Amino acid sequence: MTGSSQSAKDFFRPLAVGAPEPLREIPARPSRAIHFFDPSNEKMAAKVPDMVGTVDVLLGNLEDAIKADNKVAAREGLVEIAQGTSDLGGPDAPTQLWTRINALDSPWVLDDLTTLVPAIGDRLDVVMVPKVQGAEDIHYVDRILAQLEAKAGLDRPILVHAILETARGVANVEEICGASPRMQGLSLGPADLAADRRMKTTRVGGGHPGYLVREDPPRTGGTANLEATRATYQQDLWHYTIARMVDACAMHGIYPYYGPFGDIADVVACEDQFRNAFLLGCVGTWSLHPKQIAIANRVFSPSVEDVRHARRVVAAMGDGTGAVMLDGKMEDDASLKQCLVMVELAEQLAKIDPELEKQYAAIEVDDE
Ligand code: GLV
Ligand code: MG
Repeated sequence: MTGSSQSAKDFFRPLAVGAPEPLREIPARPSRAIHFFDPSNEKMAAKVPDMVGTVDVLLGNLEDAIKADNKVAAREGLVEIAQGTSDLGGPDAPTQLWTRINALDSPWVLDDLTTLVPAIGDRLDVVMVPKVQGAEDIHYVDRILAQLEAKAGLDRPILVHAILETARGVANVEEICGASPRMQGLSLGPADLAADRRMKTTRVGGGHPGYLVREDPPRTGGTANLEATRATYQQDLWHYTIARMVDACAMHGIYPYYGPFGDIADVVACEDQFRNAFLLGCVGTWSLHPKQIAIANRVFSPSVEDVRHARRVVAAMGDGTGAVMLDGKMEDDASLKQCLVMVELAEQLAKIDPELEKQYAAIEVDDE
């Protein structure tokens, strides 16, 4: 968003002489799973080349979960991996390369940026910034990236992704999304956000059995039987924040993501959490373990059933105006627009995922 003393035109001018021009649209590149790896961990780093092409985004993590003693090794490891792995990162690569830098008040972040941009800026698609509090944090990163890009002679701007994981960040979510043309998206950071809000959970994302609603007691002759067994329904702790995040991102033409799901063994609850985010409008999620990549790829790709239905509605709606009845249900301009979101997403994913391409191509839509 432009401040009162700034012209709208200034927004799309580079912030440093010689820096690449800001993008006017954020490319809709598939990013169903953002798979985190620790570049200081040799075993993990060795697996990276084989993962290229199997996951939409590989993210070299430099922040939390990397021990203070390993911060330099992680940064240097990321440079080595990016320089030594073909097809990783850059506008045409099958797998994007992202990094999560250290927090802006940490002793490491300046070296993170001044090392990574000159060394691998041409491969780095997105820089994820943790613990973003307001537009001022994005402005800081925006300017420093422009200076470093100019110095490195880069011809394409590195995009910025903010993690929503402080109460102030949530309060300022719209201004964060609109703070720079570099803004690519937002992720929910449920672990830090819970701590910052002083929530009484002790987990990394997901639900909590204590956060529930209970059905009313049965009544006999107007008297409530409070001793009766009553069903309870667990509620989603993250619904409010994800919904705010989705609206803020949609308003600014950028992309919302769920974040970490720490219970790696509970693949069922993980899939549920991912699916809620997908249904609410998120385009992807983090993966903390290879088995979460498969879950994310499945959940964030429209099902064959949904694509079939969406294509039937598109076919039945003709010029896109008016209303039709399909299977006893009314479809109109608004449901057509929802269906187009699914059809377009399926088309994008089919281009990069041969298995999905086959499944979607096999869908037959009969005109009734
Ligand atoms: C992620 O960084 C989180 O804090 O959940
Ligand atoms: Mg965090």
